[in-house]
Amino acid sequence: MAAGKRKKIAIIGGDGIGPSVTAEAKLLLELYQERAGLPIDLWELDLGADRYLRDGTTFPNQIQVAIQRECSAVLLGALGDPRVPNLEHARDILFGMRFGYDLYANVRPVRVLSDRLVPLKGRTAKDIDIVVFRENTEGIYVGVGGQFKRGTADEVAINEDINTRKGVERIIRAAFDYARANGRTRVTMADKSNAMRHAHELWLRVFQEVRAQYPEIQSNHVYVDALCLYLIQDPSQFQVIVTNNLFGDIVTDLGAALQGGLGMAASANVHASDPARVALFEPVHGSAPPLAGKDVANPFAAMLTAGLLLAHLGWPEEERRIERCVSRALDQGMCTVDVGGTLGTRAAGAWVREQIAAELGPAVGTSDPG
Ligand code: NAD
Ligand code: IPM
Ligand code: MN
Repeated sequence: MAAGKRKKIAIIGGDGIGPSVTAEAKLLLELYQERAGLPIDLWELDLGADRYLRDGTTFPNQIQVAIQRECSAVLLGALGDPRVPNLEHARDILFGMRFGYDLYANVRPVRVLSDRLVPLKGRTAKDIDIVVFRENTEGIYVGVGGQFKRGTADEVAINEDINTRKGVERIIRAAFDYARANGRTRVTMADKSNAMRHAHELWLRVFQEVRAQYPEIQSNHVYVDALCLYLIQDPSQFQVIVTNNLFGDIVTDLGAALQGGLGMAASANVHASDPARVALFEPVHGSAPPLAGKDVANPFAAMLTAGLLLAHLGWPEEERRIERCVSRALDQGMCTVDVGGTLGTRAAGAWVREQIAAELGPAVGTSDPG
């Protein structure tokens, strides 16, 4: 997208706590429109379980196409509602974007914004600074498979794990490119090639080929079970982790635990080799149905996700500002109960926005009376 052109951001609150945490992130983007004059336009979409239950709509093709044509980014809350047990709408919307826009890199930073949140004895925030590159368009998530003799004593259920040369290579390359561009010196690839000897032998072989092209970056391979062990024993040995779709999903919930919980974990879904394509930004957490409508959910994961979005659109200093202000909120206890505070969702979001507003100064276009 050409510099100076306005950037349109689609917003989908979704289900459960999604709408309330996304509302805080949206207010943050509006603050940036008003106070910093960022050339962004917000387009709120009514999609999710309520809409599905009302009229059967999941993810209309014309919306999918309009987002791809017109938007630079999508900000998504979360999808998943107990009233829709088969999660049809959630899959259509979430995978409709991840697969439909070929957002092959799910980038999930595991950073801790306050020492207080580190759950490991003897460790501080500086010991945990990892970015997980999760393959996002293949693996067990493709939905290839089926059921046979369903409901009988002889039933069979199959999900195929699809790994293509192109898919494996591009996510491993994205991890190395990220390391190279961001001063990271180490990349770790995690698989289960000892058990999944067809699919993950491909991962291992491609990893050996790609790593040879990045001689300045140290790289190693670990089995994913051992990775879980090492992440708890000594997370400081990891900088960039690359893995498949399913393992990346699981490992990043473990990573969220290192960050202070799912209320703190942000993520970006990008077509890494072409950042001009529409990208999807969503917290790592789900819709947390038991917390919905109670003003208790932590909005920081969604707000930090808006920070990733702004960095992606060309304002990396604003991502740092958001992190800094969230960090201040945590240090001063101006946060929700899951991270040791007493505030509700709205009050915690507002406190961080006030800090950001104070740093940004008076609104663009207004004169400073001082
Ligand atoms: P979840 O992430 O919703 O909740 C897991 C735990 O983390 C719960 O204890 C919850 O209370 C807590 N938690 C999550 N977000 C929080 C926040 N912002 N503040 C405070 N606590 C928070 O995972 P789940 O319970 O396994 O799934 C619930 C639904 O969400 C399911 O339908 C699942 O499929 C869906 N889901 C959707 C997404 C997505 O849309 N990106 C991601 C994960 C799960
Ligand atoms: C995530 C979620 C999704 C996933 C679910 C809702 C399908 O857990 O984004 O981490 O597994 O990718
Ligand atoms: Mn997950």
